[in-house]
Amino acid sequence: MSLIALGVTGGIGAYKAVEVCRGLQIHGHDVVAVMTRSAARFVGPLTFEAITRRAVITSQWKFGMNADIEHVAIADAIALLLVAPCTANVIGKFAHGIADDFLTSLYLATRAPVLLAPSMNSNMLVHDAVQRNLHTLAARGVRCVEPGDGYLACGWIGKGRLAEPAEIVAAAVAMLAPVDSALSGRRVVVTAGPTYEDIDPVRYLGNRSSGRMGFAIAAEAQRRGARVTLVAGPTGLEPPAAEEIVRVRSAAEMHTAVMRAAARADVVIMAAAVADYTPADPASRKVAKTDGPMTLTLRRTPDILADLARLPSRLSSGVPILVGFAAETDDAEARGREKRARKGIDLIVVNDVSRSDAGFEVATNAVTLIDAEGECAVPLQSKERVAAAILDRVEWFVRARTAPPVRA
Ligand code: CTP
Repeated sequence: MSLIALGVTGGIGAYKAVEVCRGLQIHGHDVVAVMTRSAARFVGPLTFEAITRRAVITSQWKFGMNADIEHVAIADAIALLLVAPCTANVIGKFAHGIADDFLTSLYLATRAPVLLAPSMNSNMLVHDAVQRNLHTLAARGVRCVEPGDGYLACGWIGKGRLAEPAEIVAAAVAMLAPVDSALSGRRVVVTAGPTYEDIDPVRYLGNRSSGRMGFAIAAEAQRRGARVTLVAGPTGLEPPAAEEIVRVRSAAEMHTAVMRAAARADVVIMAAAVADYTPADPASRKVAKTDGPMTLTLRRTPDILADLARLPSRLSSGVPILVGFAAETDDAEARGREKRARKGIDLIVVNDVSRSDAGFEVATNAVTLIDAEGECAVPLQSKERVAAAILDRVEWFVRARTAPPVRA
């Protein structure tokens, strides 16, 4: 996940920046919106604040804000400065180093790559002054998403229209994604969190999974350009943005959602802690207590990984690539090896959940990756970094086993 500063300037296309912002989030990026004074006349800062869940920067002179410190801090933190729409005025200021507001100061202060999506009237766009400024910026390495042809807000038909949000997002993501990621364009299904198995309308059987590990994998896969379907069990954590998020409750619902998504997937990563048993006969009304003990009969849930391993495409060509998790308290590696072979999957991520600093409900993890080639210990670190280590190994399988992605 990267932090992107989305500069919004005073063009009629400013409303489309909302969609750009959303698209960047879907690819797993965090966005801070920086609006010029005139942009705020087209779209309310509150809209961006609601979407980004961050304060929107509209001025460097806001009470309590130390202009120098604030723009330098953001300048250092961002991985990309994207300005969409970018007016002729701001293009001119960037080209000439004029820093009279937050956005133009940010441009000078940051070392992050810069991407502009110009938008203006056709005559303005072809004006020598604007063209020279764009050339100056291009020579400095600033990239542009070409404006489109079409109906302009001023009534003209011609070139100058803000490029489509999807095109702007794709250009931004391409500038950020590691260029050689084997996951770029691949369909990846990630499951996360626990499942809840209902006993009656009030009670359920659950487990301690928070979903954090699966969410970190989904976010990292998005960052690498994958098209992620996240199947999430009930958890209090906010999921990262993904191309598709399917909320499920029980193991049976997760089974249905995963099997549906897996039909088109290149990779399925089962990070969810799926219940192995569910009440055989859940009550439709609340069960009242009695004085005696209570007996609950449980039946096995369908084993999702085992069913994935039996898919025809899997049997014929080894796709989707299958990754499972094993949460163990004793003989973690030996049990993980056995489980990988038994389930017929490619890679198993073994977690020793007896440690207090790894596994459930904590932000760190230490795992061992086990596949047919051998084992690799991933020492204690943040779940985000563990997610990156897992996906590095998944990329190895993707390169070895699948044809280049078909882009839909
Ligand atoms: N899993 C699954 N379908 C289930 C249960 C689990 O696909 N019904 C997946 C989990 O998402 C995880 C892996 O299988 O990737 C865990 O394997 P499992 O055999 O369920 O191990 P545990 O229940 O943790 O342990 P054990 O079998 O030793 O009880």
